[in-house]
Amino acid sequence: MAMPTDTTIDYQTNTILKEFKEFDDTKAGVKGLVDSGIEKIPEFFIQPQELLPKSSEVASPSLQVPIIDLEAIHKDAGSYNQIVQELKQASESWGFFQLVNHNVSKDLLDEVIKGIKEFNEGSKDVKEKLYSRDIKKKVSFASNLSLYQMSAANWRDTLNCLFDDNLDPTEIPEVCRDAFMKYREGLLHVAETLYELLSAALGLPSDHISGMNCANTQIFVAHYYPPCPEPELTLGTSAHTDPSFVTFLLQDSLGGLQILHDDHWVDVTPIPGALVVNIGDLLQLASNDKFKSTKHRVLASSRGPRISLATFFVPVFDKKKPFGPIKELLSDKNPPLYKEVLATDYLKSYVSKGLNSSELSYFKL
Ligand code: OGA
Ligand code: NI
Repeated sequence: MAMPTDTTIDYQTNTILKEFKEFDDTKAGVKGLVDSGIEKIPEFFIQPQELLPKSSEVASPSLQVPIIDLEAIHKDAGSYNQIVQELKQASESWGFFQLVNHNVSKDLLDEVIKGIKEFNEGSKDVKEKLYSRDIKKKVSFASNLSLYQMSAANWRDTLNCLFDDNLDPTEIPEVCRDAFMKYREGLLHVAETLYELLSAALGLPSDHISGMNCANTQIFVAHYYPPCPEPELTLGTSAHTDPSFVTFLLQDSLGGLQILHDDHWVDVTPIPGALVVNIGDLLQLASNDKFKSTKHRVLASSRGPRISLATFFVPVFDKKKPFGPIKELLSDKNPPLYKEVLATDYLKSYVSKGLNSSELSYFKL
């Protein structure tokens, strides 16, 4: 027979799960709660004390994520090398940077944000039909994809879109379809340039990373963070590292994204027209820990909605090609730190465990 304490824990866990399931069944997400006029957040959104922001851990506001300006990239060899050096420095010590003059127009970025807003604020019917936690679906909408695995829910709703060669564009909600398609086109060009620069920053031939087929699949993760009546009790997105190769993040002007740098949380201040780029776990692995996949989170706020679009660039899914530290970087002095992994397995185990923990440590040799 179970001990009384066990029974208590079980009972509490079940209550929370039951409440969560009721919320999930509404298929209206966090926005649905806010629209119903709640003044207190449901218990399953309340984060454990140790995961909530502490003022002692906030970095000085003068500390900012590096900005990489691509304007002079084709000017001359000196300018190119300068950009490579800046990128190397940013990828090694920050794992995050803001890319400006990347050639994706500000108008298009605004259109993407507007499309995501309109999807979330538009037809309930369209959202309900897409509401699903089935990760095999190419296009789906859900609040907190890995919610059943997390200690507490995040204050946001998310539209997911998997862009591989077989995606039928008509599956994408109409309000954001054109913008998503054009934005993806633009990002593919930026990624091409970035991979060239990253290869150079690792001391490899400029076509090395593009030859690794890391850009074939993009996962669009479009977030909508409604205003929160008790922002100090929850988070917009829990601290995590990205399971991608690289991530491009488009954020609106509200702010709230923070990254963990030297044990302090640094605000990623919105810059109009910029793209935030971060090194994902798979690039940390490929670079044998030279580049860092940095923890980040999004604060909840009474202001909102905040809108963002994270685009995960991941290696091809169908070819079961193992993925490991780049051989050309390894030597007696720099032995491999990771075993080879299948990107599919990596992503699957990531989704099954939820945010909060990085998978990378499981692949350490
Ligand atoms: C993510 C993420 C940050 C944001 O989706 O992985 O970190 O600003 N998003 O929404
Ligand atoms: Ni992230």
